[in-house]
Amino acid sequence: MNAQALIDTASSLVGGDKGLLAMDESNPTCNKRFAALSIPQTVEARRAYRELIVTTPGLGASISGAILYDETIRQKTGGGSLFVEVLQQAGIVTGIKVDTGAKNLAGFPGEKVTEGLDGLAARVQEYAGMGARFAKWRAVIAIDAGIPTQGCIDANAHALARYAAICQEAGLVPIVEPEVLMEGSHDLQRCFDVTGQVLHAVFNQLHGQRVMLEGMILKPNMVLPGKHCPHQSDATQIADATIRCLRRTAPAAVPGIAFLSGGQSAELASARLNAMNVPSAVKGPWALTFSFARAIQQPALAIWLGEDANVQAAQQALLHRAKCNRAARRGEYNAAMERT
Ligand code: 13P
Repeated sequence: MNAQALIDTASSLVGGDKGLLAMDESNPTCNKRFAALSIPQTVEARRAYRELIVTTPGLGASISGAILYDETIRQKTGGGSLFVEVLQQAGIVTGIKVDTGAKNLAGFPGEKVTEGLDGLAARVQEYAGMGARFAKWRAVIAIDAGIPTQGCIDANAHALARYAAICQEAGLVPIVEPEVLMEGSHDLQRCFDVTGQVLHAVFNQLHGQRVMLEGMILKPNMVLPGKHCPHQSDATQIADATIRCLRRTAPAAVPGIAFLSGGQSAELASARLNAMNVPSAVKGPWALTFSFARAIQQPALAIWLGEDANVQAAQQALLHRAKCNRAARRGEYNAAMERT
């Protein structure tokens, strides 16, 4: 393991004011998003959409790394360039989703465990050979009556740590993503408690598996009230709860924390990230950045609709979200940016 190379990659991904673009939807997830907009659910449509993203002019000014999916890392533009090469030319580091999805956890009704450890060392090596420098594994934790259980949290935390160790051994920076879901009517405090419980377990397992914290990135949820909670908190309250939770659980050796968007609107995700980076925010030792999928892509996808004629307008929408989130990293985002 080349520790310095891992540290350098992790720092380049979270340093400065850029963030990550998650474009690693599995085929079923991508198809679901396409179906909702009546876009054909074909290999070619997925390829064309990912080409639109990676060829967006100027994307590299706001995006440090892009997370691809197995199908996507093997695909090319219409002009015959691998997406990995196009990203590299734009100054964007390639990452790869390596988990194989969240499956029902036996014995724990309503809870899931993420799979993908079997054969992972060989797969990770192949991806490294294709130009990937970092990886992602997402665990999902649901909140409901009686859940999450410690059994579910521990199973997911252990898998995350095994994955992270395997990636580091192959020279890839692991993005460790334990996502506490927004679904439900729980309040902010319940999300705070569960997120803290999950992160304690995750860092305990990372320590147990000898993962080098300086060479990884944490990708957590923001601490939010459930989607159906009658009392929705404002951006400052969310930023405050999120940073307080992370200060109690995420060691200072971790160079950066890159939030997922989790189904928040694009504007809210930017506003809340911004609230964590304004001078008056509670401070933490790590860089606080973004690794959004829906909160960067959704407006562009809704413009594209599978039509060549809409590519430019969709790219502008994508670039706009990337710029808004870059501004949010500096604490300089404001609602007026949405009108320009
Ligand atoms: P969202 O930002 O849409 O939550 O996706 C982030 C991600 O990478 C999920 O694994």
